[in-house]
Amino acid sequence: MNSDESLANGVTRAMDESAAVRVLSSRDFPTVVLIDTVNFCNARCPFCPLFQGESQVDREKRPATIMPQELFDRILRELRGWERPPDSILLSPNSEILTDPLLMERLDTLRSFDMAKVTTLLTNGQFLDEAKARAILEAGVQQLMPGFDGASKTVYEGHRVRCNYERVLGNIQSFVKLRDASAHKTNIIIKFVRTPRNDHEVADAYSLFNAFLDPELDRFNDALATDWANVGSSVDALYYYPKLTEGRRVGRCNYFEDGLMIQADGKIGACCWDYNLTISGGGLGDANDTSLLDVWRGGRRQALQQSFLACDDNIPDACKSCIMIYEWDPIPDRLVRFEDSIIESRGPTSFMCLFRGTAAPATEPLAEASPETGVARRMLRRIAWFLFP
Ligand SMILES: C[S@@+](CC[C@H](N)C(=O)[O-])C[C@H]1O[C@@H](n2cnc3c(N)ncnc32)[C@H](O)[C@@H]1O
Ligand code: SF4
Ligand code: SF4
Repeated sequence: MNSDESLANGVTRAMDESAAVRVLSSRDFPTVVLIDTVNFCNARCPFCPLFQGESQVDREKRPATIMPQELFDRILRELRGWERPPDSILLSPNSEILTDPLLMERLDTLRSFDMAKVTTLLTNGQFLDEAKARAILEAGVQQLMPGFDGASKTVYEGHRVRCNYERVLGNIQSFVKLRDASAHKTNIIIKFVRTPRNDHEVADAYSLFNAFLDPELDRFNDALATDWANVGSSVDALYYYPKLTEGRRVGRCNYFEDGLMIQADGKIGACCWDYNLTISGGGLGDANDTSLLDVWRGGRRQALQQSFLACDDNIPDACKSCIMIYEWDPIPDRLVRFEDSIIESRGPTSFMCLFRGTAAPATEPLAEASPETGVARRMLRRIAWFLFP
């Protein structure tokens, strides 16, 4: 081979390698796929804008819908076929998965495409009966994230309105018993949405779950309530993070850059907070007639990407006041409720807390994590923070 050929081969190889790197960059594939299989919920939590208050899901434009099972199958088949399948799938970011009449079919699909192992189910837990618990465990779902925002019945039911304290707590306890008696290791993150109205119960709620959850597998996510409505709430004393009007914009949005959000009718939003499709101008595309990757790499999404990069006033109105495109300040000390040894990691607006288990006294250092649990923990954090950082 002469020197020209060698140079040409080297250039070709370098081009191939850079193409391979390019194809595998996170920009070309979403790392998190969020799917609402339905777009309704049994509860009416006051901190959640979706189904009560001033900025709800617009039922004229977004009527109550159940995703056809055929579409769900098609979506999962496509995800499974990607050169780089998503690291995680989040079901029910803007709805209640356990109200889905096709839940069992969804679980079968996740299992048959071998994607349950990267799937998180978000739920208020009201309908987590034994049959559903067994099906979730048997499908091999990676993670269940029940919301539970109080320690007493009164405070809890003032936050998870229309959910019943004894029933949900009993459901979570039964789920853990079933899990612990089986070979299935679905982990649990208790999501405590902390508002100024339940702040005084966060430590007691931690203790309630610490008494029966597994310190190796499970976590407590202390999440400071954030106003993610399209239009800022006028209700006082509900959010620690209201909509923003000033601060330094960072020119990117992680939700937009990493996540693909598919709504129950197949429309694809800009992010999980684009529930009325106002941010994406009616949607970035439709999974019914376009491949997910074509939407992900398509013109509508690129135009929005450009507006984030420019970071000027051409970004959608809802984005201008959205916490996700502002530089984060650390959570102030006055809002920290747990000692350092319990806090595994901090997000911009939340804390991931380790359970100690019943045996360990509150002051004793926790055992070192093995490399495997370290990986699992990093994954836990990523997923929990993807929705509410
Ligand atoms: C909109 S909910 C849908 C899933 C399910 N219905 C549930 O409540 O878990 C998605 C996640 O957002 C959390 N969440 C809702 N409103 C929030 C807020 N204002 N601040 C922080 N987290 C919030 C819920 O606790 C849940 O973990
Ligand atoms: S249970 Fe979830 S979706 Fe339903 S109102 Fe509460 S936070 Fe919103
Ligand atoms: S800035 Fe906020 S509203 Fe806009 S795309 Fe990102 S998460 Fe959604």
